[in-house]
Amino acid sequence: MAESAAEPAGFMHPSILRVIEQKKRVKERLKDIKHRIGVYSAKGGVGKTTTAVNLAYALKSLGYNVGLLDADIDCPNISLFMGIDSKSDGTYPLKPVEKDGIKIMSTAMLMDDERKPIIWRGPMIGKMVSEFLENTEWGSLDYLVLDMPPNTSDAPLSIIQLLDLDGFLLVTTPQHISAVNTVRSGRMAKRLGASLIGVVENMSKGNPEGGRYVANELGCEFLGSIKESDEMWRLSDKGIIPFISDQGIREEYISIARKIIG
Ligand SMILES: Nc1ncnc2c1ncn2[C@@H]1O[C@H](COP(=O)(O)OP(=O)(O)O)[C@@H](O)[C@H]1O
Ligand SMILES: [Mg+2]
Repeated sequence: MAESAAEPAGFMHPSILRVIEQKKRVKERLKDIKHRIGVYSAKGGVGKTTTAVNLAYALKSLGYNVGLLDADIDCPNISLFMGIDSKSDGTYPLKPVEKDGIKIMSTAMLMDDERKPIIWRGPMIGKMVSEFLENTEWGSLDYLVLDMPPNTSDAPLSIIQLLDLDGFLLVTTPQHISAVNTVRSGRMAKRLGASLIGVVENMSKGNPEGGRYVANELGCEFLGSIKESDEMWRLSDKGIIPFISDQGIREEYISIARKIIG
């Protein structure tokens, strides 16, 4: 096809150039982080935040330097799950808040009242994601765990485009509907060139049908399951980390973390 006069060879749309520039800045900012793991499913409520928080503790307990980024920009939950009231002072570069030796950053730390809804259209979400990735000073880390937003649209798309992740840890519940939606997220990540670390079945009731379905469909590893228990949500509701207060849960997450490291 003949080249258009307005678009000479090498022409790139300004929006693509912008992404390339942002990507360079994010890369520079995150250059001292050895591994980045996105905890992801297109389905809400399956336990992405639960998995991200407890996995961060498991990695920390194995001796690594860990950061936790609440990448669920418009519905940030990490502070609630971790009982964190501290706010960032809002000056750039943004400094993560530290708890139990883990560095944490969330949009909730930039808001005066967490109960206020954040109502943004796609471009604003994308802008906030890049602001966050470009401007948070993590220092050197072995692992940065990202608590991903659900769905397969703007927010996860921006994150996958801007950040070279080592891969995604997928989360599903046992139900087929959850598993199918988790497969969707895995396919999206793969299509964008990201790799899949494996899948965890959360709220498991025994035989991990959902987790195995996702692993088979995507050709990735089934890493383990976390049982459904009232204790899990009751502790999280109080801002207590299940990993710290329950030995059985701790062992499950450590086993999953070891497989991820491996
Ligand atoms: N294994 C589990 N057993 C019981 N409740 C759980 C378990 N995992 C997570 N929950 C609870 O389910 C709810 C949704 O979990 P959450 O981690 O917020 O999911 P997501 O981040 O995918 O939306 C929370 O109240 C959480 O405490
Ligand atoms: Mg969440």
